[in-house]
Amino acid sequence: MKIKTAEFVISNTDIKRCPTDQIPEYAFIGRSNVGKSSLINMLVNQNKLAKTSGRPGKTQLINHFKINDEWFLVDLPGYGYAQVSKSKRKVFQEFITEYFLKREQLVCTFLLVDSRHEPQKVDLEFMRFLGEHEIPFMLVFTKSDKLKPGAIHKNLKIFEKKMLEAGWGAIPRAFVTSATGKDGKDELLEYIGELNTM
Ligand code: GTP
Ligand code: MG
Repeated sequence: MKIKTAEFVISNTDIKRCPTDQIPEYAFIGRSNVGKSSLINMLVNQNKLAKTSGRPGKTQLINHFKINDEWFLVDLPGYGYAQVSKSKRKVFQEFITEYFLKREQLVCTFLLVDSRHEPQKVDLEFMRFLGEHEIPFMLVFTKSDKLKPGAIHKNLKIFEKKMLEAGWGAIPRAFVTSATGKDGKDELLEYIGELNTM
């Protein structure tokens, strides 16, 4: 799929104030600093559409970006980082939970994990939350430029094993990406394009 336009629409913490357009929506979630905002920028060929930072806790709101005037990409705050104050984390958790439970336009969630690390407890917990509420998600292994291809493959296998051990009967589709190397872009956009036509 070709990206013709990508525009910021609105940021907020209140699901009631998210756009009312009845168009497909795709959300990016994962631990803070995993590369959610960078991946959005990579997909839409812009450097600064979504704000990124080396410090975890940069994205603090629900951010809607309208793509090709036809669908939304949604950047969310990360979960699981102690650098953000406990009270703020609680607020994030509340509105993120509400977003996933109530956002009817949400077609698919991309759950980002760092290619270098094993699944963390918070990742497995978040997956369980999505599973319990039948919210479809795919996996995205980010920062693949930091690993050799063989190591990525090995880590994917470890990830799969841990998900099976955690009770999952099947593993969702997984994408391997690098925002710096632009890897995985065509696959992800093609996949979203397919979902858009369903
Ligand atoms: P929060 O908004 O804090 O939850 O973080 P985030 O998940 O949106 O991460 P963000 O995109 O801000 O990136 C965090 C850091 O990782 C930044 O320093 C990015 O430059 C870096 N980064 C993101 N993606 C990649 C990647 O594919 N490769 C490399 N090498 N660095 C990356
Ligand atoms: Mg971010």
